[in-house]
Amino acid sequence: MENRSLGRQRVSVPVVGLGTWQRLEAAATSGQHRELIDTAIAAGIRLIDTSPMYGDAERLLADALGGQRDQAVIADKVWTQSSEEGAAQLARAVDWYGGRIDLMQIHNLVAWPAHLAMLEAARDRGLVGLIGATHYSAAAFGELAELMATGRIDTIQVPYNPVQREVERTILPLADELGLGVLLMRPLGEGYLVRRQPSPAELAPLRPFGVTTWAQALIKWGLSDPRVHASLAATAYPGRLQENAAAGSPPWFGPEERAYVLRLATAR
Ligand SMILES: NC(=O)c1ccc[n+]([C@@H]2O[C@H](COP(=O)([O-])OP(=O)(O)OC[C@H]3O[C@@H](n4cnc5c(N)ncnc54)[C@H](OP(=O)(O)O)[C@@H]3O)[C@@H](O)[C@H]2O)c1
Repeated sequence: MENRSLGRQRVSVPVVGLGTWQRLEAAATSGQHRELIDTAIAAGIRLIDTSPMYGDAERLLADALGGQRDQAVIADKVWTQSSEEGAAQLARAVDWYGGRIDLMQIHNLVAWPAHLAMLEAARDRGLVGLIGATHYSAAAFGELAELMATGRIDTIQVPYNPVQREVERTILPLADELGLGVLLMRPLGEGYLVRRQPSPAELAPLRPFGVTTWAQALIKWGLSDPRVHASLAATAYPGRLQENAAAGSPPWFGPEERAYVLRLATAR
């Protein structure tokens, strides 16, 4: 698994991370949340993204990490309109994850001016490593760009896959110019893109790039953009983690292979 440096503080992260939206709770329902996190860490998927928006996911993650907390890079979020609740969310996360959150993000830019000041103070006290911001919607990218330009955040988290490419217009060029870390949400289009798969013959040209499955092609497509640092694919199944992790090693796609994957994705 390749590692890339996130943000100006240059925190090294594996390029394939794990998302927890809906899927960690699903794993817990089938009694597999500890196995999921153990297997992810063993596969090199040490960057794990969560949020107070994801139901019980933060607590389940803390429970599953157990004594392995130091091996993981935790990307958590603050998600509330209320300053008091934002501070309480941070305090809960600090408690769950052994006294420090590696990356604390402002989820969907909710109440970002208030939360940003609070997170900067927390960083000064050593409770937070990097500070980031996320948004899922292109309609908010203007506001996200404004926040990026303040120079007060280290990372952004945005959607990027062959059918969701709005970030190519302004967000990725700006992140590159400012030296911000870029995490990708929805590399598999929330699962929509993997529902119908290309045939083995259609995937064959990608084999020299270590790609044998469609999910790997999609994850590698995002990671082959040099402005991107990590891709957060979510799964509830430990058995899928090795497959997803394998998409995080070179060789990376060039423009031709990226165009080919894009054609396959938009043809279905
Ligand atoms: N605003 C925000 O901050 C925001 C918004 C959206 C997402 N996020 C973050 O980004 C993460 C990823 O986004 P996402 O969860 O929306 O979507 P995603 O990672 O694009 O897709 C997840 C779906 O792909 C399936 N999947 C995963 N690996 C697979 C494989 N190898 N083969 C076939 N199917 C596979 C999963 O199903 P199975 O469980 O059945 O494998 C799941 O249904 C989230 O979990 C969250 O942490 C943040």
